[in-house]
Amino acid sequence: MSEYKSARCLAVKKAAEQIEDGYVVGLGSGSTIAEGIEEIAVMLKTRNLKAMFVPSSYQIELAAISHGLKLGLFAEYPELDLAIDGADQVDPQLNLIKGGGAALAREKVVDTSAKRLLIVVDERKLAARLGEGQSVPLEVLPFACQAVIRRIRKLGGKPTLREGKGKVGPIVTDNGNFIVDSDYGPIDDPHSLELQLRSIPGIVETGLFLDMAHAVYVGKRDGSVQILQRRLSSHDQ
Ligand code: A5P
Repeated sequence: MSEYKSARCLAVKKAAEQIEDGYVVGLGSGSTIAEGIEEIAVMLKTRNLKAMFVPSSYQIELAAISHGLKLGLFAEYPELDLAIDGADQVDPQLNLIKGGGAALAREKVVDTSAKRLLIVVDERKLAARLGEGQSVPLEVLPFACQAVIRRIRKLGGKPTLREGKGKVGPIVTDNGNFIVDSDYGPIDDPHSLELQLRSIPGIVETGLFLDMAHAVYVGKRDGSVQILQRRLSSHDQ
C-alpha cells in the first residue's frame, strides 16, 4: 500500500471513531472513502456498533454492500447524524473543492444533511487558497452545457467538459448530467464565486463546499493523523 493510501486509511479509521451506536451516517465518494470502508466495517464489528449508511454514489453503494454495511435510503433518512467524505482541496478555513469523482451533487445533499461533516484527506490536499492548481467541478444539465460554458468564460473561468474514461464522449454523472471543470486559478472570494455560479441556469451544483466541514482529518506520510477543527466564520448562521 502506498504511504499516502495508508495515511488516508488511518485518517478514515480515526474519523470513523466518531460513529456511535444507532447512528445514520452519510458516506461520500471517491478513492479515500472506497479504500476506507473496510476500516469502517472492521471498527463497527470490533466495537459491536450498529449503524446505517447512506451512500452518495453508486460507487460507494457497491463498496458498502461488498463490506456488509447496512444501507438506508436517503429518502427514508434525510437527517443524518454524521457524514464522512473526501475532498480534492482544503483551505485553512476548511472550505473545500470536491467533485473529482463526479459525485458532487449528491455529496453536497448528503453532507449538508448531516449534523456533523468529517472530511478525510492526505496532506497533499491542503492549500493556502482554493483553486491553486485545482479546477472547480460543476455538475451541468446536458441541455444547457454550451450556454453554461459561455457564461463561465464571461466570468473569467476556463471551462473544460470532462471526458469519460472507458466511455467515449463526456462523463455522465449518477444523475445523468455532465461535468464541466472550471479553472479560475487561486480564488480570492469563494463565497462570491459560489453565488455567481449558482445564479447560472443549467448549473445543477458546484464543487465549492463552503462552511460545511466541521473537521478535516489529515493523514500524513509519517503515519500521524492531524485533526483540523473549523472555527465559526461570519458566513455561519
Ligand atoms: C467525488 O466526486 C469527490 O468529491 C471526492 O470526494 C473527492 O474528489 C475526493 O476523491 P478522492 O478520495 O478519490 O481523492
